[in-house]
Amino acid sequence: MHPTAPILVRKSGSEADLCGFRVPKDTLVLVNVWSMGRDSSIWTDPNLFLPERFLESGEDFIGEDFGFIPFGAGRRMCSGVPFAHRVVHNMLATLLYHFDWKLADGEKIEEMDMTEKFGTTLHKVKPLMVIPVKE
Ligand code: HEM
Repeated sequence: MHPTAPILVRKSGSEADLCGFRVPKDTLVLVNVWSMGRDSSIWTDPNLFLPERFLESGEDFIGEDFGFIPFGAGRRMCSGVPFAHRVVHNMLATLLYHFDWKLADGEKIEEMDMTEKFGTTLHKVKPLMVIPVKE
């Protein structure tokens, strides 16, 4: 839903047919990953945060399922995947294991402001502020 890199950039190495469009050689192609994540022809209820959807779909992030490419795909895909895959999950699991968390300023989860700011990378406009609550 919130890809770190919302737009991927490629240059066509040769003339190609892309979904019926002729793409001449050396064309700059912008891949709208953000829009793919919100596409109801790819995802059921695309605007709902449903991580469990991946348990059954078998979709993986390693660049072979083209509807889901948070690390890009192909020869220029993220070379930090093995590192990120270990660190992000480990860090998140550690934080969740040791603490319960509540949102700052009495904000409710259902009302969290997820407005995004677009740039080369995607940011939350309102930074996530959470307070650890010792179990
Ligand atoms: C959750 C963490 C990360 C995400 C979501 C992410 C995502 C991405 C994406 C979308 C690209 C562009 C891929 C494309 O154009 O197909 C990229 C490129 C790249 N990433 Fe990451 N990345 C992450 C972590 C890392 C880490 C930890 C490293 C290094 C230790 C890293 C190194 C790189 C490099 C070097 C490229 C450029 C690859 C190239 O152009 O050949 N990334 N990353």
